Amino acid sequence: MYRIVEAQRYNPQVKRLTVEAPRVARRARPGQFVMVRVDERGERIPLTIADSDAASGCVTVIFQEVGCSTAMLGALEAGDTIADVVGPLGVPSHLEGLGRVCVVGGGLGCAIAYPQAKALFGMGAHVDIVAGFRSASLIFLEEEMRAVSHKLTVCTDDGSNGCKGLVTDILKAALEETVYDAVIAIGPLVMMKFVCLTTKPYAVPTIVSMNPIMVDGTGMCGCCRVTVGGEVKFACVDGPDFDGHLVDFDEAMRRNTIYRTQEQRSLQEHICRGEERLHAQ
Ligand SMILES: Cc1cc2nc3c(=O)[nH]c(=O)nc-3n(C[C@H](O)[C@H](O)[C@H](O)COP(=O)(O)OP(=O)(O)OC[C@H]3O[C@@H](n4cnc5c(N)ncnc54)[C@H](O)[C@@H]3O)c2cc1C
Ligand code: FES
Repeated sequence: MYRIVEAQRYNPQVKRLTVEAPRVARRARPGQFVMVRVDERGERIPLTIADSDAASGCVTVIFQEVGCSTAMLGALEAGDTIADVVGPLGVPSHLEGLGRVCVVGGGLGCAIAYPQAKALFGMGAHVDIVAGFRSASLIFLEEEMRAVSHKLTVCTDDGSNGCKGLVTDILKAALEETVYDAVIAIGPLVMMKFVCLTTKPYAVPTIVSMNPIMVDGTGMCGCCRVTVGGEVKFACVDGPDFDGHLVDFDEAMRRNTIYRTQEQRSLQEHICRGEERLHAQ
């Protein structure tokens, strides 16, 4: 069992948990993830290691409650335990040699992009961050991102905080002014697709973090298949980082919705069970 030592809610959908997992904390590198199971009957949830501290033996995950398993995880507080925290999994991000980087985070993707920005900043790179959210109430990690960047630009779709507009608008203006060694884009598939279309004419290498549905996280089930440069890759063992200019985003978007009916049913059953428990109290 893995004990939660700290829990913080950023907004109604996004929560941060810091969990005691010394073996994972010792080896974790930016870009890697863990497979979490809330209890013995739970499904495996891949979550990026947002932070890790070998000294305290803790790893931090930041997650959005989108369905049944993440809702169950979101109900946990400090002092509660999690059945499994397996990792670190995936290939660490290749950050060496990058001197000037623009990190683009979309919504929850900011949590996944943060460890990469932090590592680059710590290595002495010039880091600009563009963080996009749907509206002001969903903004999180702003101070943390400011602390690991030379320039942080926050934008919202509705203009309720920061610049009004999409991350691609801000990125395009930045690309006109600055020559970056790389752009690192993490967020919804559609956002990463359009970031790649934006950087392509500038020939800036663009790294994306793919989040296909995963089952075992060890390269055996084939569930996390993505097509990159015409070749089949498994995001759990070959990624999750890939060259965004080579990723088949349209296929990835189609594959990510194949279990939508079952996911909705499972979430509905979870809500019904929660309501039953409330009425029983
Ligand atoms: C390498 C990797 C790192 C990730 N890091 C984070 C993170 O740091 N924070 C975070 O909030 N989310 C992260 N995700 C996505 C997270 O795993 C899913 O949101 C979660 O599994 C949803 O489970 P659910 O039962 O709550 O929702 P469900 O109802 O099962 O699904 C809701 C949606 O989540 C996606 N999803 C479902 N199951 C998986 C799965 N096993 N793997 C990937 N996506 C899935 C699908 O798009 C689906 O439509 C990551 C995914 C991957 C592959
Ligand atoms: S999750 Fe099974 S092969 Fe990647």
